[in-house]
Parts: sequence; structure tokens; C-alpha cells
Amino acid sequence: MTTTDTAGTALADTLTRAFAGHFGHDADGVWQAPGRVNLIGEHTDYNDGIVLPFAINRSTTVAVSARADRTVRLASAFVAADPVEFDLDTFAPDQAAGWSAYPAGVAWELERAGITVPGFDLYVTSDVPVGAGLSSSAALECAVALALSDLTGAGLGRAELADIGRRAENNVVGAPTGIMDQSASMLGTRDCAVYLDCRDLSSHPVPLGLAESGLLCLVIDTKVSHAHATGGYAERRASCVRGARVLGVGALRDLDAADLPRAARILDDVTFRRVRHIVTENERVARTAELLTTHGPLAIGDLLDASHRSMRDDFEISCPELNLAVDTARANGAIGARMTGGGFGGSAIALVPVDDADQVRSAVLAGFAVRGLQVPDVFAVLPAEGARRL
Ligand code: GLA
Repeated sequence: MTTTDTAGTALADTLTRAFAGHFGHDADGVWQAPGRVNLIGEHTDYNDGIVLPFAINRSTTVAVSARADRTVRLASAFVAADPVEFDLDTFAPDQAAGWSAYPAGVAWELERAGITVPGFDLYVTSDVPVGAGLSSSAALECAVALALSDLTGAGLGRAELADIGRRAENNVVGAPTGIMDQSASMLGTRDCAVYLDCRDLSSHPVPLGLAESGLLCLVIDTKVSHAHATGGYAERRASCVRGARVLGVGALRDLDAADLPRAARILDDVTFRRVRHIVTENERVARTAELLTTHGPLAIGDLLDASHRSMRDDFEISCPELNLAVDTARANGAIGARMTGGGFGGSAIALVPVDDADQVRSAVLAGFAVRGLQVPDVFAVLPAEGARRL
């Protein structure tokens, strides 16, 4: 048994006991799905573009049992006001509130896809920090989607399950996000990033080789909260749609650098900069994947830095805390750093030589302290495998 298997078995045992303690009967099984960081390719997913995220060694785990009726009961290790209970026959998306919207949304979308879902009891625990931009929501959606797919014998493929999760997020939770997070959580493989073409949904693993190159991926969670259901994310998405329409293409994916001079002439300045971010970001993703294969991760630092500048200046989704995290990491030994995820808060990532990790961590903590900011959380993540039954 590997260390991961042993840890997985221990967690499954603990969760099975918690489930039985809570519901008074045994679970049918335990399923787990990871959060993700995005190495590069931000806001390109809903523009039919390409992304390069990886699943991380932080996961959401659910113990589930099917019921003979249509009642759903949801309980968790982290919310005091448990459990939530509803009936699948009368459920409507506008009834869903708080964390229960994710499992409820997945069940609802499975039914809309023609799969009859039985009532179920579910107990959840997670070590993916919530609101840190590490896709705690996708982790929950994917764990539940895989569990219900197994329990119903629906046998859906991983890409289909990722899409069920995305639809739950869009239609029940109400966040207009793309397909990246759920795809990373479903398709991740150990030590690799997932190269995903968000137009045709083809994907393949790209070995990261971090350990071989003496690198760590540090996450700096700024603790600045972001809310994707409202505000900036939806506004950026609308700008991209507008840019594509004015430029006469189906999606910004259809443009390349040669189109930018014309875009600059006919778009207003803000829309132009939104478009320029997407066009240049797609090129950076392609280049990063190529360099990882030919030269390894030590060669991609400049692309990560350029991606961050593009999000800071053109797409305008960074914030002072993310910029501080990135700049401090770079000044203290990181070979490249960028904010990751939807933006407006959440986390940055930094690729750091193992020997410099302590220095980066203390410099970031000191930089935040001296400005009176909230204490950030700085920790290493490993590229891990996607959703699975434990
Ligand atoms: C969030 C969304 C993703 C993606 C990123 C930005 O994580 O859920 O679909 O759009 O933001 O790259």
C-alpha cells in the first residue's frame, strides 16, 4: 500500500463511523474528489480556450448511502446547523442554500440528464479551504457526482461527470463559471497537470516534474474572499462575449495575436484589454505545455509572471494582496508566480526551489504583517490524482 492509500483508508474508516453515528446505519461507500490550482490559463475556459490546472492533495470526501425513498439528508463535519433535508420530487433550484446547493444541484442535474437518482444520506468532510480559490465547490460537486453515478449504476464518464458539476454550479448555485475546476478534479493524475481544450473537451496529462527539478508549488491564500456568484466574474465574462461579437467570432478562442491591432481599432479600451488577456493567455498556456514537455518546469517562470501581469493590468482581476503575494514570492526566490483561479481575492501560486521555500514563506508573512493585512496561509501542494472511490 502507498502512503496515499493508507491515508485514504484511514479517512474512509473515520468518515464511515461518523456517517453511522449520524444516520444510525452504514454508508454504501466513500468517495473523494480533490480541489485544484490552475497552473496557467485563467478565464480562458468559458472562451472555448485552453487551460492547464492540476488536482491537489486536498480533497472533499463523502460517505453516502442510497435510500428507498426520494428524501435527501445532508450532514457535514463542519456546519453546526446540520442536517439539511429535502425531497427530490419537490426540489427546485431556488430552494437551495449554503453548501447543500452543491450536492442538491448535482442530484438535480443528474435527473435532468435522464438519470433517476434515489434519495440518499450523505456525510461530508473536507480539507480544501473554502473561499481560497482552490475549488472547494468543484471538489464537493465531483465527489457527489461520482458517488451518485456509482450508486445508480449510471456509469457516466469523467468528462460527463465534470459537466454535471459545472451545470450544478451554473444552474443551482448560480455562479456563471466554466468547466475548468470540475475537469481538474475529475481528470487529475499524479504529478501531472491536465491540458484541457475547453472547446472540444479533449484532454491529456502533462507531466510537471516539480520534484525532479527541485521545485515546490506554494499556495499563498490571501484570505481575501471572492464571490463568484456576483460581480466581477460575470462582468468579465460579459465583456468577453461582447468582444467576440464585435470582432465577429464565435468565441475569443478564434483570435490570435495577429488580430489584436484590429481589435484595438474597433473596441473600447476596456473591452480590448479583456480580449488581449484572453488571446495572450491562450498562447501562454500552449507555450507552457510545450516547455514543460521539452525543458521541464524551470523553464516556465516567465510565462507565469506574464500571466499575472496580464490579469493585473488587462483583465483587472487581481487585488493588492495577490500582487503583494506574487511580488514578494518573486523577490525571495520563486522562479515564477501568479494569482490562480477566478480572482478578486483567493490564492496565488509560486514555483519555488525547495531550499527557498522557508524564505518565501517568512517574507510573505512579514510583508502582510507590516501592512496590517490578515495573516495569509502559505502551504505546499502536490499534483494529485482526480476523484475516486476510497
Ligand atoms: C473560476 C471558475 C473557472 C474559471 C476560473 C478562471 O475558478 O470556476 O471556471 O473560469 O475561475 O480561470
